[in-house]
Amino acid sequence: MCGIIAYTGSRQAAPILLAGLRDLEYRGYDSAGVALLPESGGEPAVAKRRGKIAELDAAIGAKPLPPARTGIGHTRWATHGAPSDANAHPHTGSGSEVVVVHNGIVENYAALRAELSERGHAFESETDTETIAHLLEEALDSGSDLLAAMRETCGRLAGSQAIVALTSREPGVAVGARIGHAGAVVVGYGEGEMLLSSDLAALLPHTRDVAFLADRQLVRIDERGATYATLDGSAAEVEPRTVSLDPASAARGPYETYMLKEIMEQPAALADTIGGLMTVEPARLTLDDLAEARPWLERVERVLLVGMGTSLHAAMVGRWYFEQIARLPADIDNASEFRYREPVLGPETLVVSVSQSGETVDVLEAMNVARASGAPQITICNTPGSQTTRVADGAVHTYAGLERGVASSKTFTTSIAALFALALETARVRGRISDDDLARHVRDLAAMPEIVGRQLESFDAIAKAADRFRATEHILFLGRGPALPIALEGALKMKELSYVHAEGYAAGEMKHGPIALIDPKFPTVALAGQHALRSKIVSNIEQIRARDGEVLAIVTEGDDELIALANEALTVPPVPALLEPLAAIVPLQVLAYATADARGRDIDQPRNLAKTVTVE
Ligand code: M6R
Repeated sequence: MCGIIAYTGSRQAAPILLAGLRDLEYRGYDSAGVALLPESGGEPAVAKRRGKIAELDAAIGAKPLPPARTGIGHTRWATHGAPSDANAHPHTGSGSEVVVVHNGIVENYAALRAELSERGHAFESETDTETIAHLLEEALDSGSDLLAAMRETCGRLAGSQAIVALTSREPGVAVGARIGHAGAVVVGYGEGEMLLSSDLAALLPHTRDVAFLADRQLVRIDERGATYATLDGSAAEVEPRTVSLDPASAARGPYETYMLKEIMEQPAALADTIGGLMTVEPARLTLDDLAEARPWLERVERVLLVGMGTSLHAAMVGRWYFEQIARLPADIDNASEFRYREPVLGPETLVVSVSQSGETVDVLEAMNVARASGAPQITICNTPGSQTTRVADGAVHTYAGLERGVASSKTFTTSIAALFALALETARVRGRISDDDLARHVRDLAAMPEIVGRQLESFDAIAKAADRFRATEHILFLGRGPALPIALEGALKMKELSYVHAEGYAAGEMKHGPIALIDPKFPTVALAGQHALRSKIVSNIEQIRARDGEVLAIVTEGDDELIALANEALTVPPVPALLEPLAAIVPLQVLAYATADARGRDIDQPRNLAKTVTVE
């Protein structure tokens, strides 16, 4: 969840590290720090502060760092030890020759700390990370170089880790390691300079030539390049690849927040994703990266979709696609529940994981369980080269570009488009769809970017409707069928952005309990589009209105009956039922955004959250 950046090369490191930390701040934002190897030699210079990068900037402004061409930086999402200056990374050992930044949890840190204390090491923080610095220090003192010291240290650590370290004994060198699923270590190849980061976002301003460390790999960089090794001591071959992400597209531009930009980018992100996965004339699917997975589409007997949070909601929409379009039994599961349940599955089940980052630990662990069971796997992912794309047998890529807002928006809609394409491909391979129907579905999906764009033209009117939530502390979101995941996602957006308590519920469940909550102060957002269950949700709205509950309904344009019945209605254009989720989520994103904005929330970096969750 934390952000890591390292630089070595011919330029001054500090501005590069600080800019990188700003690019990474969405990964964690409770404290930040940098360490530099001074050009004049001597011990690393460390600056670290509790709070956002601005606090670190101010500290460095007050006490400037020495000139240096090698350094590391970190932005933290606290696990062990509260946010504080002392607990901020980088950490040093008893001496100050080695500095470490870390993402993950050292599960045996208490035992290691006791053991190190007995040997005379003194600790200055409450973090698990500090034990890594002390272990590295011992290994260096016993004569190992930094790469060997990192290998020896990793051998002592339980749990998943991403670690980067420097030592004043090896100027111009940084070493990184990845064990398990604590997050990526990405190596950036520049001109006469090299970088490491937890995230592509911080590398893109410098290079698009990158390599991803696999599990149990290490890397040593200096300004001339990178050498790779494995934890068991052998050399590793890792080839850099050129990613097509455009750094300019990652800029916030004229928008007040990244999230606003990303909501507004959805038509383009959808068009790019759809364009990457199919052609309309002639109607043809172009899912090129299914590789070994394609034959399985024909053989499997069922599909299981897994994900977390917003991606789980996209997976729930995907279940409809596999059942309705490919007529394959499909189910969904929360990845973190799935992995501990000893699920019954084997080669007859296609596991489809959905993860925009491709680095969410719960999803990766679920994929390991699926792999051990012999189930074929396809991942829906927005991050080329990420871990889910390496573990799966095939990938369907979304082309949403970098998403910097912690709350997902464009990666939700593009994941749904990718799932639609995968369900079509599955139906085609299994002979379950005629050419005409395939062409119709392709045309329908290709029309969605424009429809979503039309929705967004009403941004201000939708935002105005959020006025009714000005004083409310609880909101119920109801949906049925393919609109249920949209109700869940609308509620998630509302709570994470505005901190208003919001519950997403299957509308049919309402009478089985939640209706007891309804009173004039407990409003309901009802997804009441034109899908086959519309008449049922009309009844639910009647029941709420009969109990003096307020209803904001999301209805199809021209649905005068519902417009009259609800206290207020927001309309979506008529679209095929299966694609309605893409249109209906837009007003819910805007409602959450406007509610949060009116309450002065930190929209891009809501409290307690991190963009990519790499700890359990
Ligand atoms: O990177 P992933 O899609 O695997 O992330 C999964 C969730 O952490 C994520 O969808 C989260 O729920 C959203 N950012 C919330 O808006």
